[in-house]
Amino acid sequence: MTTPSAGTPVVSARDLVKTYQLGDFAVHALRGVSFDIMPGEFVAIMGPSGSGKSTLMNMIGALDTPTSGDLAINGVSIGTLDSDSLAELRNRTLGFVFQQFNLLARTTALDNVKLPLTYCRDPQKQAQANDRAAARLREVGLAERMDHVPSQLSGGQQQRVAIARALVNDPSLILADEPTGALDSETTVEIMNLFRRLTEQGMTVVLVTHEADVAGYARRLLRVRDGRLVEDRPIIGGAI
Ligand SMILES: Nc1ncnc2c1ncn2[C@@H]1O[C@H](COP(=O)(O)OP(=O)(O)O)[C@@H](O)[C@H]1O
Ligand SMILES: [Mg+2]
Repeated sequence: MTTPSAGTPVVSARDLVKTYQLGDFAVHALRGVSFDIMPGEFVAIMGPSGSGKSTLMNMIGALDTPTSGDLAINGVSIGTLDSDSLAELRNRTLGFVFQQFNLLARTTALDNVKLPLTYCRDPQKQAQANDRAAARLREVGLAERMDHVPSQLSGGQQQRVAIARALVNDPSLILADEPTGALDSETTVEIMNLFRRLTEQGMTVVLVTHEADVAGYARRLLRVRDGRLVEDRPIIGGAI
């Protein structure tokens, strides 16, 4: 396994600026943000409401492009990609986890996890979709729940299905926006320990959270305020 300091950053942000123009009025959502995230890092992004967290996540997730500056995923600058290539990058390289799980309601856990593979162009991956989805569900501890639909699962189980779905394409990076925002504290611990284990196995995870307890599971804190990175430091012993 590569050490976190070796090789190409999974995410490289250079002087990222995002300005929204509302008529004559400019909203400076990001005012020049730079950082690198290396493979296997577990990063928490914190900051007050309106500070630019979602704008930053949308750029890391290749959902939006900067006004100026550069954002590269695995060394590929997203500003150089057309919308098809951005969609391909999102599907093949990134896994998304949301606060509200975003599972299909009438669809089994197995089929929910398989869904990203049905868009994948790799025929070998298609053929192996069932096996791959089942393996990811086992990995998140849901071997016995593959045939259940979301309403038959607890919140924590639903989020584990969503994490299995995010992992099924072997992404370079998991992006999680408030992944425990809809969970009770016991289930939050379970989900954060799962992310922690995944990063210890080499996965890279970036999450946005309002809660210091949740951020404390990560290994590095990026704090944004008024569109600027005001803190970038390791998290030691869970202390925020
Ligand atoms: N599409 C948009 N158009 C105009 N302003 C926006 C848009 N998206 C975000 N903003 C503004 O950019 C700033 C940062 O927003 P956001 O990134 O959503 O912050 P956070 O996620 O930290 O709450 C806020 O002032 C917000 O109102
Ligand atoms: Mg937000």
